[in-house]
Amino acid sequence: MPFFSLMIIFYFQPFSIIAQGRIIPPPAKYGGRHTVTLIPGDGIGPELLNHVREVFRFTCVPVDFEVVNVNSSLNSEDDIHNAITAIRRNGVALKGNIETNHIMPPSHKSRNNLLRTSLDLYANVMHCQSLPGVQTRHKNIDIIIIRENTEGEYSSLEHESVSGVVESLKIITRLNSLRIADYAFRLAREKGRRRVTAVHKANIMKLGDGLFLQCCKEVASGYPDITFDSMIVDNTTMQLVSKPQQFDVMVMPNLYGNVVSNVCAGLVGGPGLVPGANYGRDYAVFETATRNTGKSIADRNIANPTAMLLASCLMLDHLKLHEYATLIRNAILTTMNETRLHTADIGGQGTTSEVVQSIMNIIQSSGPRTTAQY
Ligand SMILES: *[C@@H]1O[C@H](CO)[C@@H](O)[C@H](O)[C@H]1NC(C)=O
Ligand SMILES: *[C@@H]1O[C@H](CO)[C@@H](O)[C@H](O)[C@H]1NC(C)=O
Ligand SMILES: *[C@@H]1O[C@H](CO)[C@@H](O)[C@H](O)[C@H]1NC(C)=O
Repeated sequence: MPFFSLMIIFYFQPFSIIAQGRIIPPPAKYGGRHTVTLIPGDGIGPELLNHVREVFRFTCVPVDFEVVNVNSSLNSEDDIHNAITAIRRNGVALKGNIETNHIMPPSHKSRNNLLRTSLDLYANVMHCQSLPGVQTRHKNIDIIIIRENTEGEYSSLEHESVSGVVESLKIITRLNSLRIADYAFRLAREKGRRRVTAVHKANIMKLGDGLFLQCCKEVASGYPDITFDSMIVDNTTMQLVSKPQQFDVMVMPNLYGNVVSNVCAGLVGGPGLVPGANYGRDYAVFETATRNTGKSIADRNIANPTAMLLASCLMLDHLKLHEYATLIRNAILTTMNETRLHTADIGGQGTTSEVVQSIMNIIQSSGPRTTAQY
């Protein structure tokens, strides 16, 4: 009976979400415009996000940004909590990576991780695709990686009760494993994909990864139209660098997701090219897939703007502004195909602003929706 009443509540509340007993109204859209939280972060984050704003202004995208700075060198967590509150208000954010200082004590948690867990952004999704014009060893790569984003090795539970012995807890729960597996299969079906591969190390972590794998199998049984298989993480990385075309959709726990998505980004041209998205039930945060700060190349006008601009397109798709997303994405890909404009990370001599200018020129010449009024 309680199950039925829950269903009824959902049925009659189509425009609101019931979260932990609270009803979250959809974000306000003043004058039909969306408000998105913008967290510049460290390294190349601020300059890349300025370029996103420039392209959005130029394309007349109906999005306003609420900028929230997070200063990673401060000990207080006030900044990041302000950012989290802003995302709760707006529902959507675009961010640069916030530096995590290794020298800080363990109590100083990664701001990025705090943000993802506080907002329960449980699914990290990365679509790794060969791009036109980029020279790489392997061609025709088209992999969707779904990474559990809230637990596993990222629990921040470490202690040294006995000197010289550290315990670092990896948490795998049935609930979160089922949730991420279900997300992966739903996405696979929605995108017309044929196969989901679970990545694990259940031969060693028999209980933890064993549970993850078991949950994936259970969910798979509800999707007879999609083939399910599994692969041990070490073999996965070897298979990826030798024959990446064999993979379709992949689902895995947190740390393997971190490693595998970086391998995949490398396969298609590097960290400057691939966008990433973090989805929860209520919120969505977009960033570059490999989450680097790019500190060594900051403020030199040489960073590749592609990954962040493509992340902004994912964000526009999420806001159902598909026309703008497609317009900007096509301009990015057309520019990408123009080898002489490549930035140094993919073997060219172009600057960040030259690439962005070319993208805006293509936008201007490609649609009535664009305007040169800015
Ligand atoms: C961050 O805080 C430190 C310490 O108060 C300050 O020196 C630094 O300028 C701040 N950085 C930014 C980008 O605001
Ligand atoms: C690694 O994966 C390949 C491709 O699925 C498979 O043929 C092979 O048997 C696997 N190797 C090991 C050691 O599991
Ligand atoms: C990229 O450029 C090549 C050569 O000019 C062209 O054949 C190809 O269709 C282009 N691809 C895309 C996706 O624009």
